[in-house]
Amino acid sequence: MSLETKIQSKQARIGVVGLGYVGLPLAVEFATKGYKTVGIDLDDRKVQSINAGKNYIADVEEKKFKAAVKGGKLTAQNNYDSVRNLDVIFVCVPTPFTEHKDPDLSFILDASRQIAKGLRKGQLIILKSTTFPGTTEDYVQPILEKAGLKVGKDFHLAFSPERIDPGNRKWTTANTPIVVGGVTKRCTELACAVTAQVITTVIPVSGPKVAEMEKLLENIFRSVNIALVNEMARLCDRMGNINIWEVVEAASTKPFGYMPFYPGPGIGGHCILIDPYYLRWLAQKHDFQTHFITLAAETNESMPFYVKDTVLREMGMRPISFRDAKILVLGVAFKKDVDDTRHSPALRVMELLHMDGARNIMYNDPFVPKVKIDGMEFESVPLTPARLRDADCVLITTDHSSYDYDAIVKNAKLIIDTRNATKHVKKGREKIVLLGDGK
Ligand SMILES: NC(=O)c1ccc[n+]([C@@H]2O[C@H](COP(=O)([O-])OP(=O)(O)OC[C@H]3O[C@@H](n4cnc5c(N)ncnc54)[C@H](O)[C@@H]3O)[C@@H](O)[C@H]2O)c1
Repeated sequence: MSLETKIQSKQARIGVVGLGYVGLPLAVEFATKGYKTVGIDLDDRKVQSINAGKNYIADVEEKKFKAAVKGGKLTAQNNYDSVRNLDVIFVCVPTPFTEHKDPDLSFILDASRQIAKGLRKGQLIILKSTTFPGTTEDYVQPILEKAGLKVGKDFHLAFSPERIDPGNRKWTTANTPIVVGGVTKRCTELACAVTAQVITTVIPVSGPKVAEMEKLLENIFRSVNIALVNEMARLCDRMGNINIWEVVEAASTKPFGYMPFYPGPGIGGHCILIDPYYLRWLAQKHDFQTHFITLAAETNESMPFYVKDTVLREMGMRPISFRDAKILVLGVAFKKDVDDTRHSPALRVMELLHMDGARNIMYNDPFVPKVKIDGMEFESVPLTPARLRDADCVLITTDHSSYDYDAIVKNAKLIIDTRNATKHVKKGREKIVLLGDGK
């Protein structure tokens, strides 16, 4: 039976390597559509959790997940033993950067080597991890072909970048359009066919490099625009009397050619912060400097320093030493309403505050029970009126929806708001220091 027929008749066996924020939702979608789906992850806790019917990704619908596991459509394992039995394998492993901000492809390379051991004729491999152009053809393909099978003839290979936006209720794995670029025309057709089983709109492009580059464009577009508004926020602070948040709202009334981005304490997560450096690394190989893109990344990375300096300045105006000041940080996830703290600017701010001598830092985050910063463990403290009253500075770094901002402002002595989370608060505004409001 051809792979296409297996896909259309739901007899194709699906593998998903890497069961994190990207992989698990994808695996659940296939299992829900009736495909026998095997998740592969080296993290045994995730594997056990799935097999025990315990979901650990907030975006995954509980009912769907449980039905997929109970119905025997979704299973997980901590090894690659089943690769030979699978028809389509999606690779969703991390793509971090190294200490010196060079791409770290080790997870992709490791997964490719493991898959290569069980690779057989007729299989389709689809890489979904965000990476620089050339990864699929110049790094993954040679590993898969090493044992003698040829791409396009014996097996198929494509790149299809993930667009999931954790916490976004409107745009999910299933309804967000997805781009697919195969090494050959047939690779693209097959990758589109299987993707279309779980995703409403699939857009084929001419090859993996275009798909890899378009993903970087999407993320760098965000990085550049956030940097622009961060720089303007700092200018507003310097000039005085212009509030950047009001400026953005006013600009947003233009019905064409403008899209709002907001300032903040910096950017985090596993994508927007990293991707400009993936492209920079590649560009340098071609004697090309991505000055503009790198400047944007650096501008965003300077924001935690700016926020730390704001706390220092505000404490300097009060009869309390910075060292002893009780600083209560609200929100350590990298963005609102998620539990992901990877590269969170809030953690960077806490680290910088500590490096500059602050010894009384605490935090609250309804999604994150504990964090480690520079080897020190912090536990989320309960957010009570007494705790707010006691703090010398309440620093809002993540604007979680569940926070009662009226109560926060009512009880706190000083609020440094880096997200305009207190915009609807009417009473006590004189206690708020808002990033970019020009005061
Ligand atoms: N999180 C997002 O919002 C998002 C959105 C779009 C794209 N991406 C991209 O998708 C990729 C995955 O991101 P994520 O957020 O899901 O990461 P994650 O860390 O949540 O999940 C990755 C999983 O891969 C597993 N893993 C690592 N090496 C492995 C190996 N060799 N074999 C099997 N499993 C292995 C890890 O244990 C982990 O569970 C990255 O390239 C990221 O840039 C992420």
